[in-house]
Amino acid sequence: MRLGIDLGTTRTLVARVDRGNYPVVSFFDTDGDAHDHFPSVAVAHPERGLLFGFEAIAAARDEDLRLIRSFKRRLAYPDVNAETTMSVGGKLVPVVDVITGFLGALRTALAERSSISDEFDGDETMVAVPAHAPGIQRFLTLEAFRRAGFTVLGVVNEPSAAGFEYTHRQGRTLNSRRTRVIIYDLGGGTFDSSLIKVDGTAHEVLDTAGHNRLGGDDFDAALAQVAVAQAGLPWGELGRRPYEDLVDECRTAKESINAQTRRVTVDVNDAPVTVRIPDFYEVAGELVDRTVATMSPLIGLDAQGNPSLNDTEVAGIYLVGGASGLPLVARRLREQFGRRVHRSPYPAASTAIGLAIAADESAGFSLQDRLSRGFGVFREADDGQGISFDQIFDRTTVTGTDTFEVIRRYQPQHNIGWFRFVEYASVDEQGLPTGDIVPFAEMLFPYDPALRGQDLEGLPITRIGEGGIIEERYLIDPHGIVEVHVTDLSRGYQISRVLGEN
Ligand SMILES: Nc1ncnc2c1ncn2[C@@H]1O[C@H](COP(=O)(O)OP(=O)(O)OP(=O)(O)O)[C@@H](O)[C@H]1O
Ligand SMILES: [Mg+2]
Repeated sequence: MRLGIDLGTTRTLVARVDRGNYPVVSFFDTDGDAHDHFPSVAVAHPERGLLFGFEAIAAARDEDLRLIRSFKRRLAYPDVNAETTMSVGGKLVPVVDVITGFLGALRTALAERSSISDEFDGDETMVAVPAHAPGIQRFLTLEAFRRAGFTVLGVVNEPSAAGFEYTHRQGRTLNSRRTRVIIYDLGGGTFDSSLIKVDGTAHEVLDTAGHNRLGGDDFDAALAQVAVAQAGLPWGELGRRPYEDLVDECRTAKESINAQTRRVTVDVNDAPVTVRIPDFYEVAGELVDRTVATMSPLIGLDAQGNPSLNDTEVAGIYLVGGASGLPLVARRLREQFGRRVHRSPYPAASTAIGLAIAADESAGFSLQDRLSRGFGVFREADDGQGISFDQIFDRTTVTGTDTFEVIRRYQPQHNIGWFRFVEYASVDEQGLPTGDIVPFAEMLFPYDPALRGQDLEGLPITRIGEGGIIEERYLIDPHGIVEVHVTDLSRGYQISRVLGEN
């Protein structure tokens, strides 16, 4: 059986491949009620250890334990690595272990408590990461799925998967003049947008823009903020636990808002507070405006320099992601972009369905994606006194089909090569990285043969004159994972690393 699994910040959705259909899998909670998602939550139970999903929700409710949410967001922090820990029931646990545990529990739920339990035979699955995921997030996600026992067919960017779902469902909006679609994916923790060119079943991502820490969670916090202000409480007076409870309540209230809703009521410090929708929308509107500003590089400009779809080949802006269910989102986008704004009938499931389509060989969908983030290396120059920067992969580098390779050869002047790999949103006029720079990894290479086999940490970097010929080989595999091989070609000495691995 082939699956598409969308590991979400708040909810995880699974769709299966079933003879040209891609039904969403339902999961049964501890009361036997069916849900179209598996909650991305955990609790640390004093006796039973880590519990996930519906079991975690039941234990948190019955035994008053604290729910751990949004662990996927931890993968998007700039300093994350395989050892990054998070606090779980008072203990520090590696984030990747929590996610592996979660995916293991998801697998058990698929086999034992889901609509496909009877047929669940394996686990060939297509997985996704946010388009702007740092490489380390991409790597750790893949690693966690594998460790949890899934066979990963591929890693796709979330909005690219949603693009498949669009073509599958709304293909008729595309024609010879309008060949492009913009995916607007507002999830629980991330916003991603992609401009995709579609030709039949062939999809080419032309560009992407996104924000790794902007999503529905921020709308919940915005509603909480308005409610606290309305209650006349100074911001910050509420303790952590009451604040978390309030945010939970705000999430539920927010999800209940439809086009006719005038007001919602939430409890602040055990007293009901009524918030008028226009007051909430005033604050929430700024969040929507931030998504539009983020996505604007994908959209054409009108004569006044405002983002506009007129005179573009864009057939539609497709709203996916659970948080785009808030009526304000489509309304605000329509005010700006008119009738080409479409909402997915299954905003929360679009990515999972698209992943199942990607997992289905007989569907024949193909994808040419982009790296989305630049990748480069700082090296020492001038006797170790200065550093130089070299861009290796541009953010528009094509991924998703074959392995892509870049080779650099040179004769070094120093005894040690000190490589500091980084990812970034863009480069400035001087060719230096700017915007959301994430240090990725460091590597020391002994150019001086006398240093080989030694611990290079802390040794001074000095100029020793021309050495042997060094080759740096950089590979990006179809999953977007970067490998580095540095070789002294003259003497056959090599160090290799998969970036993300320790
Ligand atoms: N009807 C609704 N109206 C408004 N918001 C909603 C609605 N239903 C769900 N949401 C919000 O959607 C968000 C979850 O969306 P989704 O399931 O797409 O995100 P995710 O995949 O968990 O997160 P991400 O993609 O960022 O990792 C939550 O913030 C949730 O409150
Ligand atoms: Mg999502």
